[in-house]
Amino acid sequence: MRYYALITAACLCLAAASDIKSSYSLPSYISPCNKTDPNIHKCVEANIEALRPNLKEGVPSLFIPALDPLVIPPTCVNEEDQVKVTFKDIHIYHASDFALDQFDIDLVNHEVNLTIVFPLLRIKSTYNVNGKFLVVTFDESGPADGNYTNFRVFLGLKGSPYIENGEQHLKWEKETINTTVGESHVVLDKLFGNHTDITDKTNNLINENIQVIINDLQPVIQGVVSDFIFGIVNKLFSYYSVKQLFVS
Ligand SMILES: *[C@@H]1O[C@H](CO)[C@@H](O)[C@H](O)[C@H]1NC(C)=O
Ligand SMILES: *[C@@H]1O[C@H](CO)[C@@H](O)[C@H](O)[C@H]1NC(C)=O
Ligand SMILES: *[C@@H]1O[C@H](CO)[C@@H](O)[C@H](O)[C@H]1NC(C)=O
Ligand SMILES: *[C@@H]1O[C@H](CO)[C@@H](O)[C@H](O)[C@H]1NC(C)=O
Ligand SMILES: *[C@@H]1O[C@H](CO)[C@@H](O)[C@H](O)[C@H]1NC(C)=O
Repeated sequence: MRYYALITAACLCLAAASDIKSSYSLPSYISPCNKTDPNIHKCVEANIEALRPNLKEGVPSLFIPALDPLVIPPTCVNEEDQVKVTFKDIHIYHASDFALDQFDIDLVNHEVNLTIVFPLLRIKSTYNVNGKFLVVTFDESGPADGNYTNFRVFLGLKGSPYIENGEQHLKWEKETINTTVGESHVVLDKLFGNHTDITDKTNNLINENIQVIINDLQPVIQGVVSDFIFGIVNKLFSYYSVKQLFVS
């Protein structure tokens, strides 16, 4: 019965998706930029400002999910290790307050370089630490909270053109990615159950080493960020042709 319901739901979604493909249109407050405009970054910035009031709730016709809070899938930060740290129920606050620091586009070679800065992100989640350390086995969960300033993402994208229904579309792939964080402060609550003194000491230790920890987590952070960005960008460029997104 459950499987039947699932299959029906999947079919309905597929039917809806093929419908949507032909009926999607850009929101009226978006003005496509001129591909050959030397100040194209200004035009892109102006469009972001036009979008901004809607970013908290998301913009379905541009495949942008709600950005404040932004809910992302559970993430294990160290698959290989004996002691696994996993975060779930990840809610990111203030993600809609980003600024586009740099935007270079070359639509002849289909290259984009951009830098996005989030002045402040607050990330709340539920952590789980489980595994074995020496002879001690543990499995602890609790609320995690963190504030991060100046989270900066530098991204280089490379597009491959393809033709669909006689129109050019682009499939984007990651060329380069780099992320940096300014100041961070995190708190993992109830890390050692009722032993608040050990929990406090551990949290102090984590915060004293936060830059090193975040540096070690770069591959995980970059994976989450690029999955998120490419999820949006590739849906956008698959549903809309280059001609719909840019004027020339
Ligand atoms: C993007 O950056 C790379 C080097 O990181 C450079 O080779 C390329 O020309 C840049 N592309 C644009 C469109 O600025
Ligand atoms: C994050 O910032 C908020 C607002 O200033 C504050 O209430 C909260 O305690 C901070 N959390 C951490 C882990 O620093
Ligand atoms: C990432 O950016 C930082 C700051 O701009 C820089 O110091 C570092 O070399 C960059 N790392 C890579 C792998 O590009
Ligand atoms: C924590 O302390 C409370 C009250 O002192 C007690 O009811 C609870 O069982 C304790 N939990 C653990 C995991 O020790
Ligand atoms: C785009 O820019 C080019 C050169 O800057 C100009 O010739 C063309 O008319 C512009 N197209 C539109 C639709 O504004």
